[in-house]
Amino acid sequence: MCGIVGFLGKRQVKEHLLQGLRKLEYRGYESAGLVVMTANGDFSVAKAATGVESLRDLCLKVDALEMPGMIGIAHTRWPTHGGATENNCHPHSSCDGSIWLVHNGVVENFQELRKMLVDKGHKIISETDTELVAHLIEEEMKGVNLETAVRAALPKIVGSFALAIICRAEPDKIIIARRTSPLLIGHIGANEFIIASDSVAILPYTKEIYELHDDELGIITSAGCEYKTFNGDELFKKMIDVDTELGEVDKLGFPHMMLKEIFEQPDVIATVCRGRLLADAGKVKLGGLEKNQDVAARLREIDRVIVVACGTAYYAGLLGSYLFNRIGIQAEAHLASEFLYSQVVYDPRRTMVLAVSQSGETADTIRALEEAKMRGALAVGIVNRVGSRMTRMDDCGIYTRAGFEIGVASTKAFTSQLSVLAMMMLYFGRERGKMALGEGQLLIAELLKMPDKMKKVLAKVAEIEKIAQRFSQAKNFLYLGRGYSYPVALEGALKLKEVSYVHAEGYASGEMKHGPIAMLDENFPVVAIAPRDSIFDKTKSNIMEVAARRAPLVVVTTEDCDDFDQMTEFVIKVPTVEMGCLSPLLTVVALQLFAYYMAVARGLNPDKPRNLAKSVTVE
Ligand code: F6R
Repeated sequence: MCGIVGFLGKRQVKEHLLQGLRKLEYRGYESAGLVVMTANGDFSVAKAATGVESLRDLCLKVDALEMPGMIGIAHTRWPTHGGATENNCHPHSSCDGSIWLVHNGVVENFQELRKMLVDKGHKIISETDTELVAHLIEEEMKGVNLETAVRAALPKIVGSFALAIICRAEPDKIIIARRTSPLLIGHIGANEFIIASDSVAILPYTKEIYELHDDELGIITSAGCEYKTFNGDELFKKMIDVDTELGEVDKLGFPHMMLKEIFEQPDVIATVCRGRLLADAGKVKLGGLEKNQDVAARLREIDRVIVVACGTAYYAGLLGSYLFNRIGIQAEAHLASEFLYSQVVYDPRRTMVLAVSQSGETADTIRALEEAKMRGALAVGIVNRVGSRMTRMDDCGIYTRAGFEIGVASTKAFTSQLSVLAMMMLYFGRERGKMALGEGQLLIAELLKMPDKMKKVLAKVAEIEKIAQRFSQAKNFLYLGRGYSYPVALEGALKLKEVSYVHAEGYASGEMKHGPIAMLDENFPVVAIAPRDSIFDKTKSNIMEVAARRAPLVVVTTEDCDDFDQMTEFVIKVPTVEMGCLSPLLTVVALQLFAYYMAVARGLNPDKPRNLAKSVTVE
């Protein structure tokens, strides 16, 4: 969500800024812009606001301009205040055009600040909250240097920000500041620096990366980078540990990142499991949970698990809650954005609040985790991005090891989260004597076979593409599932909405007859997830109810099932699993492919879904 890049060095920066923005494209954006400053303090600015084409259009504009300068800041914008217009596009400047900045975050006291600045005579030309920050600094910059002005201005902002600021009076400087929104600094060496919202833009230059924490500033000049608190106290920073597998961010011949990441899943599951499964003992080793004696003691006391997460991660967490209940630990999943308001009653001493997140930076999940920590619950994370905010907040946690997920629509993150949750079930199940040796061994055997079984689902790509083409003009879909397949139905529907913009609802199969069945007719397709498992007969009855309404049916079932062959020509068969709770790892892959090909058949780019951001860093 919004991407910031900045460069201060010994080379012309415009190309490097654009390259950085391209790396951050996956975060989602609707406009893009940059400003470059010469050694004399002259600025050249370029902006484009053409939705998902903005970056391409910005590159065209920049190519046509000279834009000399070895200092610059750039931004991709996902709008919060004001539409996606060039006028609202970052960078923004002060009235006299001497201060320019880019911003990620939300200024919550926007109305009051705007009024105060207008009353003082500032001319505000955009609808954004960001522009106010430039005027606020201008207001403070009377007879003082940029750093002092920034330090005086920031406490007046209520909300979140990552800021990069340059100014004519000090043409060898970028000041950066952070509260909540992420910002990293790469030391390229020999007095060159790159800043960015995500390490993915920095890693092509350097692995020497430092992170700004809340209420910290970085003052970058060609002489070096100083880190300070907002109060001016100097800080010593340690390098952070980052993922360095850069190959992961290339498409490697796939037409889209989303498809590449769907196909990566067999490898991802193997990586998630590597070194963690103790096949003979039917146990699992989760180093992240064995952090210290204190954590170990707390884990033994836990008798309730509350999962907090958003979107796809929430659906993984919902399934996870079924898995914990399966081994006798009371568990439930909450949407992180609702957790604070639903006033859930729990005994913090005996409760694990489990945050599930790909990015580890999702604002709603962070808030929920903060609240749980404040109340004294054990905060545990299932997170993909190494070193992300959640991994620094939690008491202990498990990495999902899915590698960079660039596709805006989560795919491999979901299956890696499910695998970790299955391992947590095994961990607690075996620790507490709720899973027998044989069951533990079976679960491990199934996890080890999963990559090959996933490959068999992926081999059905052409068949699934054809089904998607057949349904590409449908306007609505109902996704149905029961038991472990219910979260899969929710996830399948979310994937379809995100990338193909087709309305889809995920529903519990058994709930269909309590309302949604009224919508069904021959123009309302239904996708049913019905692996042959312990509740198959009930799911099948629900599917028969759909067929009786002549709604077109797509059924995702297992290879051992021919019950639907006469009912519909659109049956996708995935390999069977002995432990039904693992079937979502396979059924969901079929639904990911279906959503992907629906988007492609509708002429859309699934890697650039409109209005979406990869990392949702505002509440
Ligand atoms: C859907 C999707 C989102 C994320 C959600 C949480 O494809 O990507 O629904 O799952 O925004 O993000 P993380 O997992 O980063 O906390």
